Amino acid sequence: MTADPADLLVLAEKTALEAGDLVRDRREAVERMAVAGTKSTPTDVVTESDTAAEALIRSRLFAARPDDGFLGEEDGSVAGTTGVDWVVDPIDGTVNYLYGLPQYAVSIAAQIDGVVRAGVVHNPASGETWTAVLGGGAWLDGRPVRVSACSSLSLALVGTGFGYDAERRARQAAVLLEVVPAVRDIRRAGAAALDLCAVASGRLDAYYERGLNPWDLAAGGLIAAEAGAVVGGLRGAPAGNDMTLAATPGVADELTALLERLGADRD
Ligand code: IPD
Repeated sequence: MTADPADLLVLAEKTALEAGDLVRDRREAVERMAVAGTKSTPTDVVTESDTAAEALIRSRLFAARPDDGFLGEEDGSVAGTTGVDWVVDPIDGTVNYLYGLPQYAVSIAAQIDGVVRAGVVHNPASGETWTAVLGGGAWLDGRPVRVSACSSLSLALVGTGFGYDAERRARQAAVLLEVVPAVRDIRRAGAAALDLCAVASGRLDAYYERGLNPWDLAAGGLIAAEAGAVVGGLRGAPAGNDMTLAATPGVADELTALLERLGADRD
């Protein structure tokens, strides 16, 4: 089965919008959302909407492309035979979703031979949808987006996030203590995929976080990079679990140097 990234994006976007409707409707139907289970820690929760949305996404993608691979946050992975792998977070920002905060997203990326070639991040609460195809720029609701022109870390609005493990969080807080006086201000919005899209749209000048999983990063990382952000890790590593940094080029070197000096990619 051939894999044109533009076609994969069409499928991803249609599926993300449908899953987004499902999770938003379920959230609006109840005042208090129930926790269906926990994962790495008691605060790392899953709701029935996470599993329902992932099942819907999986069924739509496999109906269209039965031989692709699949990596989802909730239900593990399926190996494919086409070279295309879907990387899916049915609800990024599950804690926001649980609490009724409108900062959560459906994130779907298509990798071809291990390289992310198309991605969509859809915020069902705001209705906003970011998309990108590798080499084709980044788009918000069909309009091109571009990173900010910020050129000094001291003037940068910087997003970050924290893991679920208490020891990891303590270490992340220690790093943050040193970052706060070096920047304009900090935001912790609670959904990594949307943080990456915020960098793409110039709503943040930079974002960094240790501990991201592939499904948090795949689509949003492509969107940020296609909007002109420098996306990577520290010490020459690619963006990944150790560190993900996305920044407008004018502040990327300064932020990278600061985080390297602080050992922000180590526990
Ligand atoms: C989490 C969110 C959060 C980030 C965590 C992620 P989840 O994803 O993106 O902002 O700080 O590192 O695990 O659990 O809501 O899908």
